[in-house]
Amino acid sequence: MVVAIDGPAGTGKSSTSRAVAAQLGFSYLDTGAQYRAMTWWMLGHGVDVDDPAAVAAAADKPEIVSGTDPDHPTITVDGVDVAGPIRTPEVTAKVSAVSAVPEVRRRISGIQRAIAAGAEHGIVVEGRDIGTTVLPDADLKIFLTASPEARAARRSGELKGVDLKTTHQALIARDTADSSRAASPLAKAGDAVEVDTTELTLQQVVECVVTLVEEKRVAR
Ligand code: DC
Repeated sequence: MVVAIDGPAGTGKSSTSRAVAAQLGFSYLDTGAQYRAMTWWMLGHGVDVDDPAAVAAAADKPEIVSGTDPDHPTITVDGVDVAGPIRTPEVTAKVSAVSAVPEVRRRISGIQRAIAAGAEHGIVVEGRDIGTTVLPDADLKIFLTASPEARAARRSGELKGVDLKTTHQALIARDTADSSRAASPLAKAGDAVEVDTTELTLQQVVECVVTLVEEKRVAR
C-alpha cells in the first residue's frame, strides 16, 4: 500500500504523514529532507547552487540515506546525521534552486522509488511530485492545501524568533519556485483527493487520511 501526500509548505504534510504512517504501521519517507540533504552537501562542498550545470555535475556524488521509521525518521549524507543542519534558513533559501535541476530530481526520485518498492507493510511518502511523477501508481494520493496565512502562521510557530511577514514572504517565494519549475513541479495529480487543512486540527486531518486508506484497503 503506497500513500502519496503532496502539497505546499506549511499544510501539515510532515506531521500528517508521520502520524498516519505510525497509526497504520507503515514506513514514512520525507522527500523534502532528501532535497534539503542534497542542498546541504552542495553548500558545504563549494558548489555554486545558482549554477544548474554545476549542480547537475555534482548530483551523483553525495550518498543520501533516509531512515523510514515514522517514530524516528533519520537522514544522513555520507554517513553524517544532517537532520538539524538541513533545516537552517540557508538550506531552506537554496533548496528550490537545487531541486529544480533535472539531474538532482532523477537521482533522488530513483532513491525514493527504491525505498517505496522495499517497504514491507506500506509506506506514506510526502513531497511535491510524488503522486504526479515519482509514484504515479500510488494506491492513494492526497493533496493537502491551506490558506497562505494559515501556512505562514504554522511555519512561524515552528521557527521561533522569525516574524510572520518574513516567513510568509519566504514561503510564497518557495511555493512559486516549486510550482513553476519545468522538472516535475509541485502539482495536484488528477486522481488525488484534495484536503484543505485551514480549519482542521492535525488530529482531524490524520483521521480523514486514515479513513481514506482504510476505504482503499477494503476496495483492493
Ligand atoms: O517539504 P520541505 O519543505 O522540506 O521541502 C523542501 C524543498 O524540497 C521544497 O521547497 C521543494 C523540494 N522538494 C521537491 O522539489 N520535491 C519533493 N518531492 C519534495 C521537496
